[in-house]
Amino acid sequence: MATTETSQRGSWNSKLGFILAAAGSAVGLGNIWGFPSQVADNGGAIFLVIYLICCILIGLPVMIAELALGRRTKKNPVGAFRALSGGNKFVPLIGFWGVICGVMILSFYLVVAGWTAGYVFEEIFFFAGYPEWAAWFGALDNGLKNAIFSVLFMLATIVIITGGVSNGIEKATKLLMPLLIVILVVMIGYVLTLEGSLTGVKAYLMPDFNDLNPDVVFSAMGQAFFSLSLGMGALITYGSYIGKKQNLVESATYVTLADVGIAFLAGFFIIPAMYVAQASGVQIFDADGNLFASTTLVFNILPEMFHNMGGIGLFAGVMFFVLLGMAALTSTISLLEVPVSYVIDEHNYSRKKAAWSVGLLIMFFAVIVSFYIGLIDFLIIVFNNIGLPLGGLMICLFLTFFWKTENALLEIENGYEGVLQSKFAPIWTFFIKIICPVLIGLVFISTVYNLISSYFTF
Ligand code: TRP
Repeated sequence: MATTETSQRGSWNSKLGFILAAAGSAVGLGNIWGFPSQVADNGGAIFLVIYLICCILIGLPVMIAELALGRRTKKNPVGAFRALSGGNKFVPLIGFWGVICGVMILSFYLVVAGWTAGYVFEEIFFFAGYPEWAAWFGALDNGLKNAIFSVLFMLATIVIITGGVSNGIEKATKLLMPLLIVILVVMIGYVLTLEGSLTGVKAYLMPDFNDLNPDVVFSAMGQAFFSLSLGMGALITYGSYIGKKQNLVESATYVTLADVGIAFLAGFFIIPAMYVAQASGVQIFDADGNLFASTTLVFNILPEMFHNMGGIGLFAGVMFFVLLGMAALTSTISLLEVPVSYVIDEHNYSRKKAAWSVGLLIMFFAVIVSFYIGLIDFLIIVFNNIGLPLGGLMICLFLTFFWKTENALLEIENGYEGVLQSKFAPIWTFFIKIICPVLIGLVFISTVYNLISSYFTF
């Protein structure tokens, strides 16, 4: 993707081009649907705190590692690990696991993206006075509608990927991101005027450390990886298109900040909105204080809010869901790019053939998920919450034992002169060798322990 015709493999058009594409990949449903749902599900502010810690302490160092690995090898994830594995047969499997995670994550991501597209029509039909049509487009368990929209999303993704229209992606992101921020800020302002919102703000910003448990940390870590597009080689792939003059550390920092910032704003809008809905009589918690069906909650609450805004609600609602759909599209592109670049590099497919064959396979999975949306929760746990941090852990171990962090730093030095003498070098090395693997490992161990012990107390 993202090709100027100057080199065979292609590269981003400019320094900003890569940052925009990577930010486009990062900012998506994970920020606006996933993050607020998880905050609500996991004790509010405490989740926000742990999430921020995970993004900075684990996400950012791993992101830099992925980018360096991609730029050094100029390969897809499988090829990248193979190139530096010294002939070890098992190491490339790390990349292969990433490819599988990409395929499975995309299978449910398309369905959720389809929900946002459906809500554009839901809003239009609602305000035009056709409530039955609005209900049809808004029904999250409407399998046929889900299938149609997820197929359309996949087709759009395939067309963009085969076209190599990097210009388009970069330009779209440049426009989209500021617009998304504007609409979020405006909606925050609006929600704060409504009754009940302050309880929501408190729940969002005032952590109660009694809510801290291994489950919260496990979910926050999975969410950090998902939101930053880490752990499955998407940024190895994007890194393979970066030029040697670009400062990877600086770019990764911008991408992380943009992503975390937008997630923070989305939470600031949506968590108070949930409490507003509650104040007006919508039940959002069950008797045990658990959230009703958290994967669908955001979509149940927001349209109601737009409906109650009067005429301006049509504009706000359509704009919100269109922008969210576009943000999802710049993310599906990066998810599909991983298996596609793998098939191109390792099986000698043309870009077009690769995109269509992998794309159609994933489309088939997405149609299944469309009819069985209960699968989404399962896919999130296996491929997102377990799969991505596991991938991140493997990347850290790979840098420590195979490629070596010293060599990674030599790659980072391109575009960041003096990095070897800087304070960054030892700090980053310490994070990749110790902090990240230990933290990820601890979270896994305590989650397994928690599972087993809750099993035995039952
Ligand atoms: N980060 C995107 C989001 O928040 C989803 C995504 C795109 C992703 N590419 C990825 C997640 C690669 C994991 C890996 O919506």
